[in-house]
Amino acid sequence: MSMSLIQALPKAELHLHIEGTLTPSRMMALAKKHNISLPYVTLEDIQAAYQFDDLQSFLNLYYQGADVLREEEDFFQLMWDYLLVCKEENIVHTEIMFDPQTHTNRGVGFDVFMPGFLSAIRKAKREWGQSTKLIMSFLRDLTEAQAFDTLDASMPYLADIEAVGLDSAEKANPPEKFRKVFAKAKSLGLKRVAHAGEEGPAEYIWGAINELNVARIDHGVRATEDNVLLRFLREHQIPLTVCPLSNIKLNVFDKMDQHNILSLLNDGLCVTVNSDDPSYFGGYLNQNYKELQHHLDATDDQIVQLIKNSFLASFLAPDEKEYWL
Ligand code: ADE
Ligand code: ZN
Repeated sequence: MSMSLIQALPKAELHLHIEGTLTPSRMMALAKKHNISLPYVTLEDIQAAYQFDDLQSFLNLYYQGADVLREEEDFFQLMWDYLLVCKEENIVHTEIMFDPQTHTNRGVGFDVFMPGFLSAIRKAKREWGQSTKLIMSFLRDLTEAQAFDTLDASMPYLADIEAVGLDSAEKANPPEKFRKVFAKAKSLGLKRVAHAGEEGPAEYIWGAINELNVARIDHGVRATEDNVLLRFLREHQIPLTVCPLSNIKLNVFDKMDQHNILSLLNDGLCVTVNSDDPSYFGGYLNQNYKELQHHLDATDDQIVQLIKNSFLASFLAPDEKEYWL
């Protein structure tokens, strides 16, 4: 399948951190606007700095980058930049994660970022019918009490939030740490997702399913370490939102030709392709599909199945899924 066909097929994206879409040029412009000095002079300096050893080395730059986001308009621009990419790449539906604590910890509140996000989302809906949902992610290296504070602060915006998620440093921060706050989120009618089995063990995938009651797993590629888990994921069709370029950049796999996404697909699991933090990992969604063709010889049938899975695994209503399938 040519790139133009990947480009042309309507797709959904289900694992995308809006803070991870901050482009180097937008970062430079916002730093200038707010008189913030960055450790970079040129765009090339930024690009050169984006070499990561592991998840933590990435997170350090990702949180540092987010510091240029200060005012409502900045969050509008951040969201708008990404929604224009959706239009360009034919991502007709996107479920976007945001990390409130990355902002509230710096004194930037829900009343600043939510109106910015929502006005961009509404403009894209009006202008070209862009479909979006928001997933509010808790930072798992912080405490459950801080996640509860975040959930409380989100109350005025609950109608615009589809689900809660769990991200940031996985190792030593198991899902069960957040059991109570996820139960509260469920009682408020929010769906649940969690990063698990990216750097952490397969056991954390069980934890996300059994303790947090998640509808899908973000990453989940370490499921291959547990055959009972693989069977469970297949039987229950619990989706994995896999992010190929991210996994290479963060050394979850050494090289793309070693990635297990197609073996998971061939095993009958509901796997999907996503870009995670495209500005940091070197490619938006279509590039992630293209990598699978180039390095794993993905067939047209496999690409089409992955795209179908992106809708099947989404939080769209059954009739909306049906429309795209
Ligand atoms: N936050 C942004 N991207 C992430 C990832 N890939 N894993 C965990 N936390 C993240
Ligand atoms: Zn992620």
